[in-house]
Amino acid sequence: MQISVIGCGYLGAVHAACMAELGHDVVGIDVDAAKVASLSRGVAPFHEPGFDELLARNVESGRLRFSTDFADLAHAQVHFIGVGTPQVQGGYAADLTYVNSAVASLLPHLNHHVDGPTLVVGKSTVPVGTAATIAETIAPTGALLVWNPEFLREGFAVQDTISPDRIVYGLPKDPESAGTAQGVLDDVYKQLIAAEIPRLTTDYATAELVKVAANSFLATKISFINAMAELCEATGADVTQLAEAIGHDDRIGKKFLRAGIGFGGGCLPKDIRAFMARAGELGVDQALTFLREVDSINDRRRDHVVNTARDGLGGTFEGKKVAVLGAAFKPDSDDMRNSPALDIAARISGEGATVVITDPAAGPKLRAARPTTHVADDAYTAAAGADVVLLLTEWKQFKELDPTRLKDAVNNPWIIDGRNALDPTTWRDAGWTYTGIGRP
Ligand code: UDX
Repeated sequence: MQISVIGCGYLGAVHAACMAELGHDVVGIDVDAAKVASLSRGVAPFHEPGFDELLARNVESGRLRFSTDFADLAHAQVHFIGVGTPQVQGGYAADLTYVNSAVASLLPHLNHHVDGPTLVVGKSTVPVGTAATIAETIAPTGALLVWNPEFLREGFAVQDTISPDRIVYGLPKDPESAGTAQGVLDDVYKQLIAAEIPRLTTDYATAELVKVAANSFLATKISFINAMAELCEATGADVTQLAEAIGHDDRIGKKFLRAGIGFGGGCLPKDIRAFMARAGELGVDQALTFLREVDSINDRRRDHVVNTARDGLGGTFEGKKVAVLGAAFKPDSDDMRNSPALDIAARISGEGATVVITDPAAGPKLRAARPTTHVADDAYTAAAGADVVLLLTEWKQFKELDPTRLKDAVNNPWIIDGRNALDPTTWRDAGWTYTGIGRP
């Protein structure tokens, strides 16, 4: 099928390449000329496991192209919208500028397609009610709208797009339009449907809410275990054992119960805030006041690491050297949006320490974006002369560090493991002072 994907960030670029991989003819559209140039050469503009090969293969085959010109999508029958919805400056709400401008630019090209009905498919995370407005905007062209939220995790984006846990279609109210729209999207996802991936059909509002509800639940789970970590710290208990023990209960489950410096990234933090803002507009803000607490618990974990490091260094960072392992918001990604690691590093540097950061994927990006930041190529270099080492993103490379070799590099063998990623006994046996999160 002829497909366009508007917005070529982490979501859109991966979606475009995966649609090409499924055999479709795909054009990705983005306003960022540098990004389009890179993607067109088959070179990924960000780090995502498996994406480089997928991109190169499909660009090479001719099934996948990229452009900055909306005229290049006029031939497509199905148009995916995968642009960002960041947090507005100075508020909690989602900024819909990119979604609105994508729809406005797409509108003049929405013609009846020779192969059947034209479909616009929303994938961006939007405040509930947005889809209904977009459906009205495009209605005069005869095109139909489906709201089809994306649940992909960075680091697993390709896998999550090709074989997601579930597919959700938010469909038009009118049954005939709903049936038509569903038929077209089922054709796009033919292989996924054949693989019996659960497909749920809902109205627009439910589909929009599914996404923010899922992210709110995940954020709540993380903040829950981080709140338990606070209790463990106050009592000498071990949150990693606690998480394992409660996780054996199927109703709770073990996933997303890793205590640490909390959640960051381009989704969870801004999505829970936008959800609260939207609930306020709808007059049901009380329903989501618990998310305010989820957000505060998350922030407190960052404070906790900064305070622990400062206290251990004698009450001040002035004149101290701090090595920070990790800049990305999670491993296997170079995404530094709302990264807890970077936030902690910035606060410590702001208090007068010399901070040296290293990150296997985000390092070069950080060096380019912030030339005054000290970025080292690896952990051993970053740790040279350090008074404390902070492990803030649990990259495999950091989990496999040799404590003896690292000890030779530092000034003071003290590690704060902000992700509970290391084995405390191994590090203590090697002569380190080990400080985890919520565990002795
Ligand atoms: C998230 C959702 O998982 C995904 O379904 C949605 O589509 C987009 O948002 P992502 O932002 O890629 O995906 O990352 P995720 O794996 O959810 O992790 C988010 C943050 O939580 C990371 O900073 C991670 O380090 C942190 N985290 C995760 C914890 O602190 N503890 C955990 O147990 C799990």
